[in-house]
Amino acid sequence: MPTNMPARESDRIPPEAGIDDLRHGAQRCRDCPIGEHATQAVFGEGPESAKLMLVGEQPGDQEDIQGHPFVGPSGRLLDRALEHLGWARDSIYVTNAVKHFKFEPRGKRRIHKTPAQQEIEVCMQWLERELELVQPEAVVALGATAARALAGPTVSVMRQRGQWVVRPDGLRILVTLHPSALLRGPPDEREAAFARWLDDLRHASRYIAPG
Ligand code: URA
Repeated sequence: MPTNMPARESDRIPPEAGIDDLRHGAQRCRDCPIGEHATQAVFGEGPESAKLMLVGEQPGDQEDIQGHPFVGPSGRLLDRALEHLGWARDSIYVTNAVKHFKFEPRGKRRIHKTPAQQEIEVCMQWLERELELVQPEAVVALGATAARALAGPTVSVMRQRGQWVVRPDGLRILVTLHPSALLRGPPDEREAAFARWLDDLRHASRYIAPG
């Protein structure tokens, strides 16, 4: 049994590597079982110089097929929010806590499955490397998976939405809902929920360079 094998896939990638090397490394990652069934790993996208990073849960069906984060229904709602806020998406680094799509086949459809805590913890190796490289001034955690992955298991999105949590390493994390929570909400409350979500997100406006 070789003793010098790196324990994690990301440990095979040298510390000085860039985002593209990490992106390729994540494609190979089988440190948890999710990658076996997904089409591809969906890595973060955006400028390495971004001051703000947005973190979601995991790619959905469309992201898994297209290979880009937040391009499906949740992504369209996110884009609408960014437009309202006047935030240019290409000035933000957008990624997910988990890089592969976890799903359950149901007929021809693939139904989103929430990643297990252990899968989230294993996948954090990639998000931590993205954080090291991009060094954002602040992060927006979209939903409970991202919030807990980034700020620990005691964070509550419902109690702390719109608030900043500061990690022991100084990283500032703004907690808010995942866009899919708004899409699942009662249709007659959607616009009010959207307006409240914008109010949460607006707290991070100071990290967007004027366009
Ligand atoms: N949901 C997420 O959390 N991330 C995506 O990229 C798409 C949907």
